[in-house]
Amino acid sequence: ASYRDVDVYHQDIRASRVEMLPGVRTEVLGYGGAFVGPTLRVRQGRRVVVRYRNGLDRAVNTHLHGGHVAADSDGYPMDLIEPGRSRFYEYPNTQPGATLWYHDHTHHMEAEHVYRGMHGFYLVEGRDERRLRLPSRDHDVPIMLTDAHFAPDGSLIYAPEDTPNRTTLLANGRPRPYFPVAARKYRFRLLNVSNFRTFHLSLDRDMTMTQIGSDGGLLPAPVRREVVVLSPGERAEVVVDFGPRRVGEQVVLNDVSGPVLRFDVVTRAADDSRVPDVLRPLPPLPALGSGRTDREITLKVDMVRGAAYINDQVFDPNRVDVRVKRGSTEIWRVTNLDTDVSLDHNLHLHLVQFRILDRDGAPPLPGESGLKDTVLVPAGASVRIQVTFGDFLGRYLYHCHMLEHSVGGMMAQMEIV
Ligand code: C2O
Ligand code: CU
Ligand code: CU
Repeated sequence: ASYRDVDVYHQDIRASRVEMLPGVRTEVLGYGGAFVGPTLRVRQGRRVVVRYRNGLDRAVNTHLHGGHVAADSDGYPMDLIEPGRSRFYEYPNTQPGATLWYHDHTHHMEAEHVYRGMHGFYLVEGRDERRLRLPSRDHDVPIMLTDAHFAPDGSLIYAPEDTPNRTTLLANGRPRPYFPVAARKYRFRLLNVSNFRTFHLSLDRDMTMTQIGSDGGLLPAPVRREVVVLSPGERAEVVVDFGPRRVGEQVVLNDVSGPVLRFDVVTRAADDSRVPDVLRPLPPLPALGSGRTDREITLKVDMVRGAAYINDQVFDPNRVDVRVKRGSTEIWRVTNLDTDVSLDHNLHLHLVQFRILDRDGAPPLPGESGLKDTVLVPAGASVRIQVTFGDFLGRYLYHCHMLEHSVGGMMAQMEIV
């Protein structure tokens, strides 16, 4: 249904059996009963309401990762949709165009729910995008990456400590799919929805990718990348030019642990798309006066207790960890203390897109110069981010997006007042 100033979508959350491995049925929990939920394409400036119906036998909710949304539509872990019930979430889409995604955020269950299929793309098309003439429509393709552990009968095995056995890489829910392409440019929106794995993506045949976007949308300028690193929750938008390839050639997208998918060049094609030298200039960093707030955030696991901490505490919904003033700008230094066990983490903030200032004093990595909502923090490293809080009030989470860690307690909340 469509009203004058709002688009309405319906999403059914349910269990179903789908083909992921060839010839086998796998039970998944998903939006529309699919392992990869429907891609919602929305326009900047146009309000969207999504009605979620919970057709499962357990409570669930939905979070729009990267979205600027009011707290009661953010999918707080205790704010749930009971079995058989429905509820509306409102997304104002006032932010710049970006590759966002939606997923479950049920307290202590988010890791298993996301693993079993509760995720999908939510693409905001920016007002500035048409005139850039980037590859669009059939040549703008979202690719969701994850990993899984299948039992011999095809069912998905889930256990928090089973991450090393999730060795089947999936692209849009299939192991090593192939994707027919024309010999022209494509825009691929890469998203890592895995609970634990960091992907290191590269193309064979000496091909490179041109990164044009990250979590919060287009970069100021394109960056040539040989390897794109994506930790859980992160996105990278890349343009790949198959123009120089001949019909019949194949190009493989690889992770360090093996092939992820294959592009088969099946036809020649005209191509009037381009990658302009200037994409989306960043808003100037607000000047920070004497009243600026600096915070120290530490990430650490306790292997013996099986707990994961932010600033030495596990998540407690009844405790506000950080109070933030609406409209203010803060600098957070995020430090990963897990040098001894050499364990990487990342940090995701709800509601906002931030800027990465430095990594251990060095400039951010290529592809990190745009707006981000999730940042990889390798073992022993410190990353400083600058965050500006907008107009929304209320409680929002920040956490490691390695979801086994967030379930283990590596999650906290800020209250915007
Ligand atoms: Cu992808 Cu708390 O989020
Ligand atoms: Cu989020
Ligand atoms: Cu972590």
